[in-house]
Amino acid sequence: MQKRRRLLAVGLGLFVSMIFSPVSLAADAAPDLKPADIAPGKVTLSVIGAGSLGSAVGKAWVKAGYDVMFASRHPDELAPMAKRLGDKARVGTPKEAARYGQVVLLAVPYRAIPQVSRDDGDLLKGKILLDATNSWGDEQTPIGKEAAQAGDGVVSQRYFKGARLVRAFSAVDASLINAVTQGRHEPLGMPLASNDKAAMQVAAELVKAAGCVPVIVGNLADGRRFEHGNPGFRANTTAPALRRILDLKPSASSQ
Ligand SMILES: NC(=O)c1ccc[n+]([C@@H]2O[C@H](COP(=O)([O-])OP(=O)(O)OC[C@H]3O[C@@H](n4cnc5c(N)ncnc54)[C@H](OP(=O)(O)O)[C@@H]3O)[C@@H](O)[C@H]2O)c1
Repeated sequence: MQKRRRLLAVGLGLFVSMIFSPVSLAADAAPDLKPADIAPGKVTLSVIGAGSLGSAVGKAWVKAGYDVMFASRHPDELAPMAKRLGDKARVGTPKEAARYGQVVLLAVPYRAIPQVSRDDGDLLKGKILLDATNSWGDEQTPIGKEAAQAGDGVVSQRYFKGARLVRAFSAVDASLINAVTQGRHEPLGMPLASNDKAAMQVAAELVKAAGCVPVIVGNLADGRRFEHGNPGFRANTTAPALRRILDLKPSASSQ
């Protein structure tokens, strides 16, 4: 009888610890997203760093019908923008956005990566993280010096271990993304790089949702070809022209 009570107590303890463990308090487990899951109403998106680039991409997604959370450390300041965008747009803190989005766009200054990683990196584990950041302008910071050696994408992945990181939206001007969204510019070729091919296919769908054309370049080390100082950075051109600039064989790129 006593043994059965002890077993019951252990079982109850395990149950309680499962309910209240840090894991259960973390973000919803990211489902194994596939390109077919990328459709309005089927997937939630977040933007951490809703400045020039983040807001341009997030607005394009809202216009395409996606549910998007725009994050700021001062979310109240984004409320008027979200109100103008309608009920598909909402605002939150970076932590709330890291929880909300099944796919998260990171568009903060490169020097902010260590802090975002410390504060919210655990919530991003297992999620597809579209990394639009560049060390350009932050070369003299410790993380900028690290990136000068290894490349921006490789270093971003070091800070977001466990995230399915894809370099996306990093090499085009925010103003041109706005112009594409407003129908004032032809679709831009969008270079992509990742060590996770399945995540890159999902990213490709979200590039299309933003009115651009994905151009798959390779893994994160290959992604240096469209980082600052290299020809693919801010090429701001069509997909065929971008492929020529990057010397990509037709089979090496999507589309
Ligand atoms: N602008 C472009 O055309 C462009 C194009 C491609 C890629 N990018 C890249 O995108 C990134 C952002 O550039 P941007 O021009 O959009 O800059 P921005 O207009 O200054 O926006 C950066 C955003 O990051 C947020 N932020 C800053 N520090 C943060 C922190 N510690 N934690 C959380 N959020 C933080 C800021 O939001 P709060 O202060 O409200 O929290 C701000 O809205 C850069 O890495 C840049 O290289 C920019």
